Amino acid sequence: MAKVTVADGQLVVPNVISVPFIAGDGIGAEITPVTQAVVDAAIAASGSAKRIEWIEVLAGEKAFQETGTWLPDETLASFQEYLVGIKGPLMTPVGGGMRSLNVALRQQLDLYACVRPVRWFAGVESPVKEPWKVNMVIFRENTEDVYAGIEWEQGSPEAAKLGAFLRDELGVTKVRFPETSAYGIKPISIEGTERLVRSAVDYALSSGRNRLTLVHKGNIMKFTEGGFRKWAYELIEREYGNTPLVVDDVIADAFLQNALLKPEAYSVIATCNLNGDYISDQLAAQVGGIGIAPGANINYLTGHAIFEATHGTAPDIAGQDKANPSSLLLSAVMLLEHLGLADAAISITTAMESLFGVGKATGDLARFMPNGQPLGTRAFGDALIAELG
Ligand code: NAI
Repeated sequence: MAKVTVADGQLVVPNVISVPFIAGDGIGAEITPVTQAVVDAAIAASGSAKRIEWIEVLAGEKAFQETGTWLPDETLASFQEYLVGIKGPLMTPVGGGMRSLNVALRQQLDLYACVRPVRWFAGVESPVKEPWKVNMVIFRENTEDVYAGIEWEQGSPEAAKLGAFLRDELGVTKVRFPETSAYGIKPISIEGTERLVRSAVDYALSSGRNRLTLVHKGNIMKFTEGGFRKWAYELIEREYGNTPLVVDDVIADAFLQNALLKPEAYSVIATCNLNGDYISDQLAAQVGGIGIAPGANINYLTGHAIFEATHGTAPDIAGQDKANPSSLLLSAVMLLEHLGLADAAISITTAMESLFGVGKATGDLARFMPNGQPLGTRAFGDALIAELG
């Protein structure tokens, strides 16, 4: 088995690339093999000497049935060892006591950048008039902000203690209802900001994009999101002084409006965790692609990266050959780009564009296409393979 490694800050990709994968629950069992078949075919068709050796690792329901745990240590160890991996959707068991598997993977591997490209595919129904104007890549900080999970429940001794500390030690008088408040902490650091912004700038420069926009609420949260803005500009000035990249910033609420009114004004976005969550889903919805949006969680310093479908396990259609594999497939396209297999990546995107253009898609998309011809999951995968150059 051949591992991807990092040397001098660059990924070193062997000819046989071992990639651990979590098939995922529900429709994961259907979309994962289709994705793998399309990826293998695309690499072969590109004439590359490389190939992927898929290694199944367990998580979610399948892991629980086979091992009694939802996220076995071996799975984390594999992602740790092989650096890059891909995952289908995982069911979140109802009833507490179980931390989110997605969050666990992100935290353990310190995957600090959540990267979400958003574009429109011709033929896909969208709620806006000019969806083709949306073509952005969002870099969402993934480890800080109110999402760090530092919270205390209303009525708990910790909340009371923190409330008293704020009042007595720091002189805080702005807590409107101190007796009945729950509390959450919003850490935003210089290091956390800098590594995220550096990733976004490097991505913009290497992919030929000409604009980076910092999205923040620094007008209200002056030290946290205002700090994000300030440290980002300082970093860019210090490390990328002569960059041809246009760098600007916008308040998050104005961005959400502008993203509807003049989306063509934006290209690469760098933002804090909570803003990034909202922005990613709004933009995906704008291009009609909430079900097909891809995503990746990446630590560009260690090389660890997990590419993932952004939808859930779709239990209502599981096992019916109806699931759309596009989100996982487009995540696999990001994986191929990450590994330097650009030709294979482009050929999959182009094949998808061709099929959508003539109304060939899985039922969830085809039913809204004027010339829609619904295909099953497997038939859609076969059609993509037939379309590869
Ligand atoms: P969901 O995304 O699974 O389903 C919402 C709707 O979209 C359903 O009607 C479903 O049929 C449809 N849908 C989703 N993916 C589709 C695809 N690829 N092709 C065609 N139709 C698709 O969201 P839901 O129902 O809220 O969650 C189900 C389970 O998935 C829960 O256990 C939830 O925790 C988990 N989940 C996991 C995520 C992950 O692993 N990243 C993300 C979101 C939810």
